[in-house]
Amino acid sequence: MHNGGQGEFPKTQTMQPSRNHLSEVLEKIQDRLIYYRDIGIKEFYGKLEESMTVPKKHKETLEDIRSDIGDCTRCKLHHKRTHIVFGEGSPKAKLMFIGEGPGHDEDVTGRPFVGRAGQLLTKIIEAMKLKREDVYIANIAKCRPPNNRAPEPDEVATCEGFLHRQIATIQPKVIVCLGSVAAQNLLKTERKISSFRGQWQDWQGIFVMPTYHPAFLLRNPAMKKEVWDDMKKVMELLKKGDKK
Ligand code: URA
Repeated sequence: MHNGGQGEFPKTQTMQPSRNHLSEVLEKIQDRLIYYRDIGIKEFYGKLEESMTVPKKHKETLEDIRSDIGDCTRCKLHHKRTHIVFGEGSPKAKLMFIGEGPGHDEDVTGRPFVGRAGQLLTKIIEAMKLKREDVYIANIAKCRPPNNRAPEPDEVATCEGFLHRQIATIQPKVIVCLGSVAAQNLLKTERKISSFRGQWQDWQGIFVMPTYHPAFLLRNPAMKKEVWDDMKKVMELLKKGDKK
């Protein structure tokens, strides 16, 4: 506004954000970073994988993740699969088992670990004084690799964002990796399973116990003792508290 005909430089309205507004924004950024950490994102570059982008306000559910997967054709395993084996069990499980990928029986039924190896896993779970419904069971790959081969790196990469989201949603206290494919892919290591089974590992702040796969136990029953030793460590941790 002019004053007495003399031009006056208008007072600048500096739009200072309020402290409250700033701390709200910072809180949102922090929440988002924690979320990305929880679903396994370690660095940002380029376009995020579709399976990793979940800008949702609410904490997502397992149903949300299953519906994002849809009738998946993202990798070549879809050509020969019968069913996607998403995983099953308690969404609040303290204990999660991760295997390699569906075999014939799992492909036919759409459920994880229901064949011979699965029956042995069920016995192990029951020996731990738990039921299958108390734990959560999933796999590195959700579709059956042909001839029971291990899932290939591109197949693992396509599927793992969904598994990481399942873990972030369930937030188990302990993950048991069944066999080298599960342990090496979750923990991003090439170490032989025999060199680190039975030793606590960490994945995003969750305790991870690598152990032998039940199918390996069917071929090598003498190794059941080692697996049972590993499961005793798991039971102790679940009972006690957070001490390693
Ligand atoms: N072996 C696995 O690794 N996962 C299954 O679901 C079944 C057998």
